[in-house]
Amino acid sequence: MPIDQEAMAELDRADGRPALVDPFGRAITYLRVSVTDRCDFRCVYCMAENMAFLPKADVLSLEELDRLCSAFIARGVRKLRLTGGEPLVRRGIMTLFSSLSRHLRSGLLDELTVTTNGSQLTKYAKEIKSYGVQRINVSLDTLNAEKFRAITRWGSLDQVLAGIDAAQDAGLKVKINAVALKGVNEDEFPQLIEWAHGRGMDLTLIEVMPLGEIGEGRLDQYLPLSIVRARLAERYQLQDLDYRSGGPARYMRVAETGGLLGFITPLTHNFCESCNRVRVTCTGTLYMCLGQEDAADLRKPLRASESNAQLFAAIDEAISRKPKGHDFIIDRRHKRPALARHMSVTGG
Ligand SMILES: C[S@@+](CC[C@H](N)C(=O)[O-])C[C@H]1O[C@@H](n2cnc3c(N)ncnc32)[C@H](O)[C@@H]1O
Ligand code: SF4
Repeated sequence: MPIDQEAMAELDRADGRPALVDPFGRAITYLRVSVTDRCDFRCVYCMAENMAFLPKADVLSLEELDRLCSAFIARGVRKLRLTGGEPLVRRGIMTLFSSLSRHLRSGLLDELTVTTNGSQLTKYAKEIKSYGVQRINVSLDTLNAEKFRAITRWGSLDQVLAGIDAAQDAGLKVKINAVALKGVNEDEFPQLIEWAHGRGMDLTLIEVMPLGEIGEGRLDQYLPLSIVRARLAERYQLQDLDYRSGGPARYMRVAETGGLLGFITPLTHNFCESCNRVRVTCTGTLYMCLGQEDAADLRKPLRASESNAQLFAAIDEAISRKPKGHDFIIDRRHKRPALARHMSVTGG
């Protein structure tokens, strides 16, 4: 069912409320929204093979997601990323892209983007581009089909590569995200760098984060990026860049390829002071920090009334509790995740 854009636009105003700023003076300008907890893959570091998914009634409708995103945009969010689970397997997801694109046209939003496993891009890349999306992130940890199947359990490398082709053909700029996994893809980074940069795509390596019970030894997967970087520095000239995204990524230029290489090390604290982001799950739970359990329920105020007053009040109250930083640990004694929720809940 299409989203009633006129009715939505009625709610697009901030009603005189100021832009969101947390107690540490950080402006909240970046919202990441997980639009579904479901996925067509079962990546070993992200999900258990037998995941129990949420009942439909708990998940926000596409209209509710639009209203929630638009409330944040009215209050100063300028970059919106849809994620998941796999955002592109949510039924009707193109109607959400379509309705959110009004904020790009109005100039309130600078960027609408998506993080995807790439499996549905042959189907959707063109349409996504037509809604004003310029850049997307595609997650891909290996170029070896067997390893790809082992990591994703259910995924097909060919399908994802075809999706990346479709995205580039549609004129989308693609960034590749790869999780660094000990003993799995650690010997492949030079190949991934040369492949990605050769196609004009930046590559970001992500350190495994201790989120959620996944039924496997997480310590076994953990590969510190400091080691990866030192190894790559023996082979390539890595030029440090000052460019920061406001998030936990550091970027370098690989002199030999000319492309950008990012390192996301969420276990370090040094990015928290510039943190500009919050995350909302598909049930409307707002997480003020990726590394903390504290959260606020926005579904209740959203469903309680057709006006946004209660929703704005709940958002304000939550942002006033945004913590200064996180406390991730990979607990060597207990081998338990530092946080109980899975990455597919907040979408990374
Ligand atoms: C949760 S996924 C959601 C979007 C989409 N399904 C995808 O895979 O791109 C977002 C990102 O989180 C990463 N991720 C998932 N679990 C992780 C973990 N435990 N540690 C680090 N990154 C993780 C994925 O590799 C992916 O790049
Ligand atoms: S990382 Fe993305 S593709 Fe893989 S299981 Fe998690 S949500 Fe699905």
